[in-house]
Amino acid sequence: MDLPQRLRRLRSTPTLRALVRETVLTADDFILPLFVSEKIAAPMPVASMPGVAQLTEKALVEEAAGALADGVRAVLLFGIPAYKDAQASQAYAEDGVVQRAVRALKSAVPGLLVITDVCLCEFMDHGHCGVTTFDGDYAHVANDASVELLARTAVSHARAGADIVAPSDMMDGRIGALRRALDGAGFAGTPILAYAAKFASAFYGPFRDAAESTPARGDRRTYQMDPANAREALREVALDIAEGADLVMVKPGLPYLDLVWRIKEQFGLPTAAYHVSGEYAMLKAAAQAGWLDEKACVLEQMLAFKRAGADLIVTYYARQVARWLQDA
Ligand code: PBG
Repeated sequence: MDLPQRLRRLRSTPTLRALVRETVLTADDFILPLFVSEKIAAPMPVASMPGVAQLTEKALVEEAAGALADGVRAVLLFGIPAYKDAQASQAYAEDGVVQRAVRALKSAVPGLLVITDVCLCEFMDHGHCGVTTFDGDYAHVANDASVELLARTAVSHARAGADIVAPSDMMDGRIGALRRALDGAGFAGTPILAYAAKFASAFYGPFRDAAESTPARGDRRTYQMDPANAREALREVALDIAEGADLVMVKPGLPYLDLVWRIKEQFGLPTAAYHVSGEYAMLKAAAQAGWLDEKACVLEQMLAFKRAGADLIVTYYARQVARWLQDA
């Protein structure tokens, strides 16, 4: 056919563009991360994440209720304990900061879906995600001993009422161990959201301020993935699925959209992307300087996640996005 292809025909009005739009955001796509601390008497803003604060249990409940009112029905909970040790004992304590917060959320905010981050770094005195010994600045993180503690942690979260547990530690075999432990404790119905492809990323910097989980010595490169590796990420996801993951996550988000796409195409499971603290901080900083239009840029980024195949987006912008979507 020699007539020109005129793709602009379908772009001429907002109504036409809406009619042919392939990707649409809804508030149901979003999960809001929240930090609860038992060390504070009032919310403590996180300097590197404007708009984000460590919350007291009371403030947490208020924030979650506010999120639900905005249409954000799922939160991802992180805890900051007053006491840390080399066994992360507060991670699986029945009255630990996360366990108490889950109970408070589930009783005070009905209808809210509570997902708990299952990791040991916030609870270890050295800040690593597992049981660790040091050789100078080299951190030996013991895999199987860590997995045992992670499984205990997940069960204690489920017992407190968590709707989904989300292991973010990157130990080998932890999904299978969590599944067995949960099933054995009577929580066969509790889904696992696996941080399946989690990279050793510099974009987590601001989070570690928020969660007080910076490793005192060494780094996380012996357990989190090398940012150079995509095929290995597919293997991680395949293993997590084989071990029983119900949902899988890619983290960080924007710099790893190729993996969101490949994982969704290859496995087809509900796939989440984590728009991490550093990605949030970059947008906030540019917006505050007046260099970017915050709303337009954030919505464009969220759309990019979904277009790439993400079914769920974890972002500190969740409430804001839900409110923007209501205005639209
Ligand atoms: C805990 C954990 C981290 C994040 C989520 N869970 C930090 C890390 O692995 O160092 C990062 C989240 C963010 O940057 O927003 N292991």
